Amino acid sequence: MNQDARKRAVARAALEFVVPGELVGVGTGSTANAFIEALATVKGRIDGAVASSDASAARLAGHGIRVVDLNTAGELPVYVDGADEATRHRHLVKGGGGALTREKIVAAAARTFVCIVDDSKMVDRLGRFPLPIEVIPMARSLVARALVRLGGRPERRTGFVTDNGNEILDVHGLDILDPPTLETDLNQLAGAVTNGLFARRGADVVLVGTGEGVRRI
Ligand code: 5RP
Repeated sequence: MNQDARKRAVARAALEFVVPGELVGVGTGSTANAFIEALATVKGRIDGAVASSDASAARLAGHGIRVVDLNTAGELPVYVDGADEATRHRHLVKGGGGALTREKIVAAAARTFVCIVDDSKMVDRLGRFPLPIEVIPMARSLVARALVRLGGRPERRTGFVTDNGNEILDVHGLDILDPPTLETDLNQLAGAVTNGLFARRGADVVLVGTGEGVRRI
């Protein structure tokens, strides 16, 4: 089974967590897109979706799925999204697609966060994938200097503006031994909007697409 087929398989498996008649939180990226395709097959059974990016909102609407603003949605039963890295402790690195801030918000609004990945995303320790940090544009250099002091090598994601009008620093070289502590420390940096560590509120379930089928952590 190739990588795309593994993504489609975990996306279909995530439908099990969708609550009939309720809203669904929907993430961003190619695996989340596979979930949107799967969700479209059961769209008559859900109330609608809350999207974590403008791109996902457009894709959901294109499938005829009602897109609801989080402010009117309230608490969500479930949020389904991909990740750039995941551990067996269900800690994640996210933000490869630059949607990390809205992803963290929708995850925080959900009772259950189901992360869907293919097995190439599973790691023993987070940090091989550069950690995305969304920054207020005027604070980019300030935050970058602080990240260097923490041992990272921040690189500006050129030509990219987030849905919130901000910039992204991709931080290379971080050895992430204690994800919740680093997430907390990064949350203290003035000018950093969100970091891509999802450890304080990690996934509740990780579905992993493998050559032998879908594994659940
Ligand atoms: C977007 C994300 C995505 O979930 C992450 O980048 C994984 O994307 P893909 O499923 O395309 O590999 O965090 O901000």
